[in-house]
Amino acid sequence: MSDLLTIVLAAGKGTRMKSDKNKVLHKIAGKEMVNHVIDTATQISSSVVCIVGHQAEAVKEAVNAQNVEYKLQAEQLGTGHAVMQAEENIKKHSGDVLILYADIPLIKLDTINEMQDFHVKNAADLTIMTTLLKNPTGYGRIIKNEDSQIVKIVEEDDADKNEKMINEINSGIMCIDSKRLNHALDILDNDNAQNEYYLTDIVDHIKNKKGKILPFKIEDYVEITGVNDRVNLSKAEKVLRNRINKRHMKNGVTIIDPDTTYIDENVEIGSDTAVYPFTYIEGDTKIGRHNEIKPHNHIIDCKIGNNNIIKNSNVIKDSEIENECSIGPFAHIRPGCIITDGVKVGDYVELKKAKIGNNTKVPHLAYVGNAELGAETNVGAGTIFANYDGVNKHKTIIGDSVFIGSNSTLVAPLRIKDRGKTGAGAVVTKDVEEDTTVIGVPAREYMKNK
Ligand code: UD1
Ligand code: CA
Repeated sequence: MSDLLTIVLAAGKGTRMKSDKNKVLHKIAGKEMVNHVIDTATQISSSVVCIVGHQAEAVKEAVNAQNVEYKLQAEQLGTGHAVMQAEENIKKHSGDVLILYADIPLIKLDTINEMQDFHVKNAADLTIMTTLLKNPTGYGRIIKNEDSQIVKIVEEDDADKNEKMINEINSGIMCIDSKRLNHALDILDNDNAQNEYYLTDIVDHIKNKKGKILPFKIEDYVEITGVNDRVNLSKAEKVLRNRINKRHMKNGVTIIDPDTTYIDENVEIGSDTAVYPFTYIEGDTKIGRHNEIKPHNHIIDCKIGNNNIIKNSNVIKDSEIENECSIGPFAHIRPGCIITDGVKVGDYVELKKAKIGNNTKVPHLAYVGNAELGAETNVGAGTIFANYDGVNKHKTIIGDSVFIGSNSTLVAPLRIKDRGKTGAGAVVTKDVEEDTTVIGVPAREYMKNK
């Protein structure tokens, strides 16, 4: 990691989002814009300063990375003014300063590193990342001299007719010598159309001091498109989703239709797993190898082992599925479930806080809540774990090789020991001993197995 100070600008409100939330708190691929940029920043430099202003507390709270320093820009008087808030850090720092914008979340780490290398190799005082846009409206235009050095950046509102014709634009991302930056900030003013302290005006001051200002022009303009409204937001989402899907495919995951597969950035998937269309895999989900994830699944914060088949249309949240299981179609696995090896959870089954032992089957139409089931047990169709007495939730513990007859109601707290059986439609209110069958509604008869 180089000796860089990185300043991330995140103080603006983002009026064009028309949102109650600060723009940078909107998520792309399941992660707030500000976190995309901060995570990139922390991979480049060990000192990261984030300038916060609008909804400062909410932004600070949303940032996941540790070791980020915050500076408050109480009034948003422009990008230059935002950087001024980090004056103390800039003064203390002897190397280069990298400026990133929290509303430019698609920038790649590699691209910043390339700019950095270019900056050092060319002994530039200021390097500005630029690109060519067919329609540059809204962006600062890059004005260069005959040596291809930048002499000025003109903002849209200040540009004359000729300047507006320039297609090379300022991305906002730049690398600058800390001393140069410090001096330039000292004399920055707000004498322009928007009465803002433009960061872009540092070009003028550095040029006057004979500094070397170079453009680092990149081909892929998508990386530096700013997210200013919800249309930009959806475009950025698409770009990031594509990148994520490509990464998984390169790692050996089959994605049948990347256009309709939505995988969050932190998700891990092992090779030879196949993901079918219309599936969302979110949060910190980790999926192993050789799984089939059929269409229309929604998987959130789960751990899934190897060789499972997740059939169509399940919602699976905050749970663990080990290996060789078959889930769904149409199962709802709610938080706190542990589904161990070889389990079948069939259609229209709802599980909540349930641990299911090896090779146990809950094949159809059941509710299993607050329960622990042993191995090799079978839960018949229509079985309800009646876990709630109207005030408290109670637990049901079921042993190994138990057979629960169809349509049983198991009234918790309840224990059904190994090899216990319930008859079809039994309402079981008292514990069932080992090798015992219970029948009836309500069940009053408890008999030893023959
Ligand atoms: C800025 C650049 C423009 C460039 C464009 C690229 C200036 C003067 N203009 O314009 O040349 O083409 O970005 O996207 O720099 N911010 C603060 N405090 C403020 C103002 C802004 O922290 O007082 C932050 C915002 O949260 C945002 C970033 O700075 O992350 C850019 O601000 P924005 O107002 O969007 O600048 P643009 O008008 O797009
Ligand atoms: Ca912007």
